[in-house]
Amino acid sequence: MARITRVARSLKGLCTMPFWWLAGVRFQGRVVLQGRSPTVHNEGRIVMGQRVLFRATHGRVRLSTGPDGLLLIGKRSFINSNCNFHATKRIEIGDYCLIGENVVIDDCSHHSIDQTSDIKMEPIKLGKNVWVANNATIMPGVSIGDHSVVAAGSVVTRSFEDRVLIAGVPARVIRKLTASDDWIRR
Ligand SMILES: CC(C)(COP(=O)(O)OP(=O)(O)OC[C@H]1O[C@@H](n2cnc3c(N)ncnc32)[C@H](O)[C@@H]1OP(=O)(O)O)[C@@H](O)C(=O)NCCC(=O)NCCS
Repeated sequence: MARITRVARSLKGLCTMPFWWLAGVRFQGRVVLQGRSPTVHNEGRIVMGQRVLFRATHGRVRLSTGPDGLLLIGKRSFINSNCNFHATKRIEIGDYCLIGENVVIDDCSHHSIDQTSDIKMEPIKLGKNVWVANNATIMPGVSIGDHSVVAAGSVVTRSFEDRVLIAGVPARVIRKLTASDDWIRR
């Protein structure tokens, strides 16, 4: 049964890839889809690594780029239901990342705070093997280091180093994590 499910997800991915290709999405391998496929609005560039898995059992994932935007999703990363990624400049999600449900990663604030401020647009980078748990929001300009974890519901407003658990609004370091360079989170 598990094997049939795996094959069905792979076939679904293979059937969807030509449509995304026409929308300008480029692939470094096949994508795997569980549930409905993400909605793609691509005015810039989207590049997906090998065997990225999208799940949409509780709402479709939304991927979008502005005209100068680049969205990179690393190999074997997992994107759960109802995530929203928007790249006005650049969003890079590293290899083997795990992204929980309802996570927002947007490198643009879209509105100015008052008449003296500009709209904030700054690239976002997640390193390798980063776990972003459910309902977290990653703000413009943030980098998160390899193997780090963002706890559920966090709002990440500044950058963090490798191998830390961060949590809260705004997110702060809870503790350091143990992870060798080649360790991949289950
Ligand atoms: C971070 C997490 C993994 C717990 O890690 P943990 O090492 O067991 O952490 P603990 O429960 O011991 O909590 C450690 C501290 O962090 C705080 N903390 C834990 N999770 C938090 C969160 N989501 N937001 C804010 N603070 C949090 C705790 O209150 C505690 O603070 P204290 O030391 O002042 O009491 C868990 O809280 C979490 O967010 N899980 C994600 C679940 C999820 O989204 N799963 C779907 C994934 S795709």
